[in-house]
Amino acid sequence: MRADAIVHHSSTGFTRQYAKMLSQATGLPACPLDAPEAPLRGTPVLFLGWLRAGTIQGLKGALGRWQVAAVCAVGMASPAEVDVSRLARSSHLGDRPLFYLRGGYAPDRVKGLSKIMMTPIFLSTKHAAAKGDPKAGALMEVLVHGVNWVSREQLQPVLDWLEQP
Ligand SMILES: Cc1cc2nc3c(=O)[nH]c(=O)nc-3n(C[C@H](O)[C@H](O)[C@H](O)COP(=O)(O)O)c2cc1C
Repeated sequence: MRADAIVHHSSTGFTRQYAKMLSQATGLPACPLDAPEAPLRGTPVLFLGWLRAGTIQGLKGALGRWQVAAVCAVGMASPAEVDVSRLARSSHLGDRPLFYLRGGYAPDRVKGLSKIMMTPIFLSTKHAAAKGDPKAGALMEVLVHGVNWVSREQLQPVLDWLEQP
């Protein structure tokens, strides 16, 4: 196994859901970034963080604290729209593997600064949807009603990497 533990940073629960599924599949312990039972400094970990405005939340702190062996970024964008190499570069990951996992969107659980940040996106999407833009219409559905795209299948590349000797 390439990591001794899984550390995650989740705001509305989708990243936590992936961390729990990985823990169940591998037997590795999983815990939140700020939990008292977090692994000791320097432990090799797999880090999972949610994406906000193109930045993997919690990653900077994790890189300074643990030996981050690989990273999973969890967002709501379709995987086809995500430039993983670019995200790895802007996240200063060096040669660490980066996996993108599609999480979901839970409007009722988005709070504080994140809610404020979503307001202009919500308004511009609403405007574009009202003008008949089908992509904006689909996004509006997600922003209003929420969606959960978490799936076991998306974890297969992560599991394959973790289980390499
Ligand atoms: C303010 C804000 C900004 C976001 N920015 C991005 C983004 O840049 N890329 C993306 O794919 N998803 C983005 N999302 C969607 C979240 O990453 C997505 O809902 C994710 O599943 C949340 O994970 P969590 O439930 O573990 O917090 C954003 C969400 C919010 C509220």
